[in-house]
Amino acid sequence: MSEGAKYSPGLDGVVAGETAVACVDQGQLLYRGYPIEELAERSTFEEVAYLLLFGDLPNVGQLAGIRQRLDDYRVLPSAVIDTIRRIPSDVAMMDVLKTGVSMTGHFDPTVKADTNDALRDRALWLTAQISGIIAARYRLLNGKEPREPKEGLSHAAQFLYQSQGVEPDAISTRLLDLTLVLYAEHEFNASTFTARVICSTLSDLVSAVVGAIGALKGPLHGGANEEAMEMLRQFKTADEARAWIADALANKKKVMGFGHRVYKNGDHRAKILEQELRKLAASKGQNVWMEIYDAIKGPMVNDKKIFPNVDYPCGLTYFLMGMPLDLYTPLFVASRVTGWSAHFIEQRVNNRIYRPLSIYTGHPLRKVVPIQNRG
Ligand code: SDX
Repeated sequence: MSEGAKYSPGLDGVVAGETAVACVDQGQLLYRGYPIEELAERSTFEEVAYLLLFGDLPNVGQLAGIRQRLDDYRVLPSAVIDTIRRIPSDVAMMDVLKTGVSMTGHFDPTVKADTNDALRDRALWLTAQISGIIAARYRLLNGKEPREPKEGLSHAAQFLYQSQGVEPDAISTRLLDLTLVLYAEHEFNASTFTARVICSTLSDLVSAVVGAIGALKGPLHGGANEEAMEMLRQFKTADEARAWIADALANKKKVMGFGHRVYKNGDHRAKILEQELRKLAASKGQNVWMEIYDAIKGPMVNDKKIFPNVDYPCGLTYFLMGMPLDLYTPLFVASRVTGWSAHFIEQRVNNRIYRPLSIYTGHPLRKVVPIQNRG
């Protein structure tokens, strides 16, 4: 290995690039300088998507423009619907999404160029298509035909309308929109880094998004929101949860929805979402779920100093909103496609292909013996 080369498993602590899209500074998450708690409180997903892609928050006219672009791009090509219809019903939604995005990529209606404007437009088209693919598959799995998009709805309301077939209530829309704001971007996480590596070879945005979906699917990354809810829903009472977490910690089990490579004193997004989750549970008379939630969280925080990440409250939020587990990580994709695209655009500006070193641990030098002489 070359002189001075540094090895850190999982690139822990290694700077792998520069970005102006977001940063986690002293535990605070900023999207292009704006604190996540202010964005969560005062903006919508479309405003955050504009911020990430264009570099600043939109004014009223610019917001109307991005919402119109998303509406312009919502109709799925019939070939995409036919393709996702044919996929066996037991195939995970994240795998359907990889196929759906690849398939719709063959019908990309945006200008065939790689200018920033063309890439931003392609990012908006992918954002609209991904939401539609998830909603269409969800309806097909429930024996219903995909619902045509309805002009003028917000992105969150559109997803609820297209998946559930009815105009959504304001609370569900606001809650879904909040999760999309919180999930949109998170500097060099595994899926975003995947997208940047794919971009660094000068490959295309659709390939980068399909690769990033594959990375996000993993339970150590975006798949944790489904895994965390899978864990919680095995309990009927807080006592059952307390017994389980005691055993899990005694046996050094990984508890999904907890821990983070960057946040060592708690994920700010989790705190923001947990407040809304508690209100949701109370409004639905489902406080027993918060007792179970706290029964797991207590020992993790108090005994292990391992804090919830955004996926822990998000799984239970989607569950109490009545959504099936298989939709949770795809909804993470429906939001994070904007962050991936912003990083793709940025990577192209000052690009250098990613090609790290490795430490060789294989056989020392040896000679090839002709096959007739091999034992
Ligand atoms: C996301 O990177 C991002 O920004 C990701 C994300 C984003 O927005 O893109 O924030 C989204 O992916 C959030 C993380 C979702 N994943 C999970 O909830 C899966 C469970 N979490 C862990 O697998 C783990 O915490 C990671 C993967 C999130 C972080 O892994 P690290 O930094 O490599 O930490 P580690 O595995 O080296 O753990 C350090 C110590 C270990 O103990 P020791 O072996 O040193 O004794 O903490 C322990 C771990 O065992 N630990 C846990 C734990 N997480 C860490 N122990 C039990 N349960 C856990 N969840």
